[in-house]
Amino acid sequence: ATGLHTIAKSKGKLYFGSATDNPELTDAAYMAILNDNTMFGQITPGNSMKWDATEPSRGSFSWSGADAIANLAKKNGQLLRGHNCVWYSQLPSWVSSGNFNAATLTSIIQTHCSTLVSRYKGQVYSWDVVNEPFNDDGTWRTDVFFNTLGTDYVSIALQAARAADPAAKLYINDYNIEGPSAKSTAMQNLVKSLKQANVPLDGIGLQGHFIVGELPQGLEDNLRAFTALGVEVAITELDIRMTLPATAALLAQQQKDYQTVVAACQAVEGCVGVTIWDFTDKYSWVPQTFSGQGEACPWDQNLQRKPAFQGIVAGF
Ligand code: XIL
Repeated sequence: ATGLHTIAKSKGKLYFGSATDNPELTDAAYMAILNDNTMFGQITPGNSMKWDATEPSRGSFSWSGADAIANLAKKNGQLLRGHNCVWYSQLPSWVSSGNFNAATLTSIIQTHCSTLVSRYKGQVYSWDVVNEPFNDDGTWRTDVFFNTLGTDYVSIALQAARAADPAAKLYINDYNIEGPSAKSTAMQNLVKSLKQANVPLDGIGLQGHFIVGELPQGLEDNLRAFTALGVEVAITELDIRMTLPATAALLAQQQKDYQTVVAACQAVEGCVGVTIWDFTDKYSWVPQTFSGQGEACPWDQNLQRKPAFQGIVAGF
């Protein structure tokens, strides 16, 4: 049997990867699959590099969870995606409710990004420096960063990350930008303006949290619209959920949908790889987040491959 990463590499992509999370690392059957670097050539920590995990109070950093995943990637010879530096969610209240002025919040962002990115310097392929900056209508999300600094927080974070690890690819990551949409246009306009201002930016991450049978049209063209602006792209958090219970028809449609997404990345030279947001339904975030939905991953609750696995193979 040939692993998904091996297949992706043989077709010219840099990696096929998966998110993982610290509580799962004690599950031996799960780890037997995750550690297989022919299956996964890249991993992303699902939670342990986020702000609440890494700087729970100001200036006090905690690395145990993040280090465990970084060390695992090293041990397995897998690329690491850093996730993430600046995001409105899983943000400790000392940041979101601190009522800092612009100068102080600037320095807080700089310290957080540069400390986090420095710690894994030389080990990270790409960093999601800014996560989810836009609302679905393409307006800016009015979080503490935007409300205090306007759009400047993006360049402040990117510049701090570049200085901390010049070799890491710096990304902005979001959802509902996979197909043409107001939000996708807003992201493309942001890429243009950052490039024009010489702000360091290397890639755009398209999360890819989809619903079976409801993929956006025009994935491939939309990926090309980004790469035409001089950035690489990656599918960073792919999962394709369904309303439960699963049926054979839903699982067959899911297989097609995984194939369609992977094929879109495969068709675009600047799309470097695909990461699934964990590989098994056993540990997917979907059921806790979207009530009544689940079975979004290519492996089932019992770590058995679903038809979706074959869809990924066929997509490359
Ligand atoms: C999710 C994690 O998987 C969950 O465990 C956590 O409770 C919430 O966050 N977009 C992102 C990811 O960028 O960080 C989110 O991860 C899923 C949506």
